[in-house]
Amino acid sequence: MTLARKATLIIEGQEPVEFPIFTPVHGNDCIDIRKLGGKTGLFTYDLGFMSTASCSSKITFIDGDKGELLYRGYPIEQLAEQCEFLDVAYLLKHGELPDTEQKNAFVNIVKTHTMINEQMVHFYQGFRRDAPPMAVMIGVVGALSAFYHEAEDFSDETHRNISFNRIVAKLPTIVAMAYKYSIGEPFMYPRNDLSYTANFMHMMFGTPCERYEPNPVLVHALDTIFTLHADHEQNASASTVRLAGSSRANPYACISAAIGCLWGPAHGGANEACLKMLEEIGDVSRVPEYIKRAKDKNDPFRLVGFGHRVYKNFDPRARLMQKICADVLQELGLEDDRLFKLARELERIALEDDYFISRKLYPNVDFYSGIVQKALGIPVSMFTCIFALARTVGWMVQWEEMIMDPDLKIGRPRQLYIGVPRRDVPQIVAC
Ligand code: SDX
Repeated sequence: MTLARKATLIIEGQEPVEFPIFTPVHGNDCIDIRKLGGKTGLFTYDLGFMSTASCSSKITFIDGDKGELLYRGYPIEQLAEQCEFLDVAYLLKHGELPDTEQKNAFVNIVKTHTMINEQMVHFYQGFRRDAPPMAVMIGVVGALSAFYHEAEDFSDETHRNISFNRIVAKLPTIVAMAYKYSIGEPFMYPRNDLSYTANFMHMMFGTPCERYEPNPVLVHALDTIFTLHADHEQNASASTVRLAGSSRANPYACISAAIGCLWGPAHGGANEACLKMLEEIGDVSRVPEYIKRAKDKNDPFRLVGFGHRVYKNFDPRARLMQKICADVLQELGLEDDRLFKLARELERIALEDDYFISRKLYPNVDFYSGIVQKALGIPVSMFTCIFALARTVGWMVQWEEMIMDPDLKIGRPRQLYIGVPRRDVPQIVAC
C-alpha cells in the first residue's frame, strides 16, 4: 500500500483540507478520511458502504469488473481445480498453501477435533424438529463460547490457532446434527478414516444401520463448493464478524452473529430463495412473466441469484458452480433435470434483456448452488448451512486479521440524524 496522491476537500466557508490517498496492491485507491471529523466537523454518509473501505486486508480480493476472485493472490479457478478445501482453509489462515507435512498435520488436527462436547447434544433437544436449521446453528455455534474458555488470550497465536482449528473441525458435525435432528434420525459420530468432506457426507447421509461409502465424484463436488464459499472480502457477514469482534467478543459468538447475517435472502439465503424461485417459475414458458416482474419497481420480486454488490461481470464462482452442477447431474443420471434446464434458460433469456445487461446483473454464486445441492440430496433448508460451514473459514480469518490489527478500534459508525429536533417533556398537568 503506497501513499502517492492527496485529496483536497474544499468545503464552502472552510479552509481546504488535504487527505492522503492510499494506493493498494489491487483495487481502488482509498482516501484516508479518518481525520475528516476532527479536521472539518463533517462525517461522510455512505448507506450500505457502497464507497467505503472498512479495513485493509491481505486475505481476499475481488475485481468486480473482471469477474476475478483471489484468495491470498491465487485465482479461485486454480484453487477449485487443484486444491482441496482444507488446503484452501490452510492458505486463507496462514497465507500460503501447505506443504505435505503441513497439510498432514493440519488434516490430523482437524480430524481429531470433529466431535463436540456431548453436553451440546442437549441443545438440539430444545428445538422443535421443524426449527429452521440456520436458527439451530446460530444457537449451537454461539453455545461453543460457553464451552471453551481455556484459549481466550487472542494475543497468543496458539490460542488463535486452537480456536480456528476447533471451529473448522466442529462445524460439519454441528451442521450434520442440525440436519439429522430435523429429520428425526440419530446423530452420526465423525469417522476419522474419511476426508473432511467425505466425513461430512457420512454424518449427513449415513445411518447406524449400514456403512456409508460416499461417492467420490459427489465428495469432490461438495468439497469444491466449500472452496468457492470460503471467503469473499468484506461481505455483510464478514463485516458482522469484524464489527462484533472489534469489541473483543468471543470468536464463537462472533461467528454465530455472522451466521445470523448470512441467513438473509439478500445474502447467503439466496441459494434457498433461488431454488424456491425456480420451483415457482416451474416452466420455461413462464420465464418472460417473471423477468417482467423482476424489472417492475412496484413488484418486490427480484430474480434471486442475479446481481451482486461487487461483481459487475460474471461471478467466477457461478461459472464454476455451473460446471459442478453439470458434473453432479451427469454422475447421477439427471442431465435432464427440469430445474437445471430451467435455470440455464432463465440465465440465457435474462442475459439477453437490456435491463439485466445495463445493470450488469449476472448470475452469482447462489444461482446454481441450490440445484447442485438438491441433486446431492441436501434439503433446501440446509443450503445456507452449507454456505455457513464453508464461510466459517473466511469469517475466522477475517476475525483474526481484525483482532491482530495494531490500529484496532471498536467499530462505532456515526449517523445522519433526521429525527425530531430537541424538545422538552411537557409538564404533565396533574388530573
Ligand atoms: C451473496 O457481498 C458478497 O460478497 C455476498 C456473497 C458472498 O460470497 O458473501 O457474494 C454472497 O450474498 C450473493 C448475492 C446473493 N443475493 C441474491 O442473489 C439476491 C438477488 N440480488 C439482489 O438482491 C442484489 O443484486 C444484491 C443484494 C445482491 C446487490 O444489491 P445492490 O448492490 O444493493 O444493488 P441494488 O439492489 O442497488 O441494484 C442495482 C439495480 C437496481 O435497479 P435500479 O434501482 O438501478 O433501477 O439493479 C436492480 C435493482 O433494482 N437489481 C435487480 C436485482 N438485483 C439488483 N433487479 C432484479 N433482480 C435482481 N436480482
